[in-house]
Amino acid sequence: MSKFLIEGGYPLNGTVRISGSKNAALPIIAAALLTEEECVIHDVPDITDVHIMAQIIRDLGGEVDFENNTMKIRAKVLYSHEILTEDAKKLRTSILFLSGLLARKGEARVVFPGGCFIGKRPIDTHLRAFEDLGAQVLSSENVIHVVTSGLKGAGIRLLEMSVTGAENTIIAAVMAEGHTEIRQCPTEPHVQDLCHFLNSMGAKISGIGTNILHIDGVPKLHGTTHTVTPDYIEAGTFIIGALVTKGHLKIENINPDHLDILWVYLEEMGAKFTLTEDAVEVFPTENLMALKKVRTSVFPDFPTDLLAPMAILLTQAYGISRVFETMFESRLNYIVELEKMGVRAEILNNHEAIIVGPATLKGTTVTSWDLRAGTAMVLAGLAATGTTEVSEIKYIDRGYENFEEKLTQIGAKISRIE
Ligand code: EPU
Repeated sequence: MSKFLIEGGYPLNGTVRISGSKNAALPIIAAALLTEEECVIHDVPDITDVHIMAQIIRDLGGEVDFENNTMKIRAKVLYSHEILTEDAKKLRTSILFLSGLLARKGEARVVFPGGCFIGKRPIDTHLRAFEDLGAQVLSSENVIHVVTSGLKGAGIRLLEMSVTGAENTIIAAVMAEGHTEIRQCPTEPHVQDLCHFLNSMGAKISGIGTNILHIDGVPKLHGTTHTVTPDYIEAGTFIIGALVTKGHLKIENINPDHLDILWVYLEEMGAKFTLTEDAVEVFPTENLMALKKVRTSVFPDFPTDLLAPMAILLTQAYGISRVFETMFESRLNYIVELEKMGVRAEILNNHEAIIVGPATLKGTTVTSWDLRAGTAMVLAGLAATGTTEVSEIKYIDRGYENFEEKLTQIGAKISRIE
């Protein structure tokens, strides 16, 4: 079991480049199954989840090379329609192969997915959309089993604005016969990036970036070359890291439009930063002010995946802040860890907590409850006095590329102990 040891009190200074988005790369890798030709994908983050997705494609019979953040996928022949490995079980995005396998093989059996434990994560949205497209769900318990004699375009109203639910629906629809309309579609940058990738393969998706997509099915897709959109959650994490350590940091390879709600909140808090077309420069700021309420919602509102890091920033702000997680029921565990570090906070219910700032964070032993709570703990350790030990960092390895190397390069004192 690996842990991070962090010696706090060192500002993050210099320049850091943001990697390609995890949540864009994963569905794009799954969508590459749709063609027999080669797909070359640049800026794929070198993280555990990506390696597991690559291995799944190899197990199905495809070829995958992954070097220097470029992944080449060639799914010329798929021998199997089953994904039943232990690794696949650990990963939420293994279900994204259901759609590609349905389109290519007419059948898919995929083990029920795991992933971070952050609340109930049903898959009814995915299955209902497959049924709308003419598939039959034979089982949905431990193994999801779907079959079709041919996917057909349909009018689909997604049950929930589920990101992976929408992605599975889009991947299934692009080669379905006829026209598909997907209503209530989330517009997260990773959903948009998947659509651009598919269009570059010859798909006909319009309405990208809106809640209603129109897809004209095509019989065949071809190989392509694509660069993954930058990871706005990683960007937000480094921005907050600079602010909590009072560093002077330039964060490159971002799309400022993806984080416009963060800029609004940072301005309200009095944080000093400047934006350019693809970078943000964060300056040391004293006397940050609390936020009355940070409420998560679908894009372009505040992302649930950035709330835990944001909570660390709020511990350094004057006044009482309230965080409101609307999407998941078990995503506030990091508040308990923060209390261990000396923060005055209270969990009001499964979705809401208050944080009293500013707090002097004291280094201690804390747990990484999930990917984002884990990075939040690292940020807290960077801002704390003394040494912080963060356990269960396997979650962080699943989603942040070279996290401790990147932090070390900009002045953090962080080491990994096995
Ligand atoms: N939901 C349903 N039915 C479904 C699916 C979802 O009711 O069939 C509900 C869930 O209960 C939840 C909401 O819809 O309230 C979204 O949950 P979902 O499990 O669908 O999220 P997801 O699409 O699987 C993606 C990201 C998550 C991110 C959420 C919300 C990927 C690979 N994962 O998950 O990212 O938190 O959207 O934006 O894109 C992370 O990166 O740390 C992470 C957890």
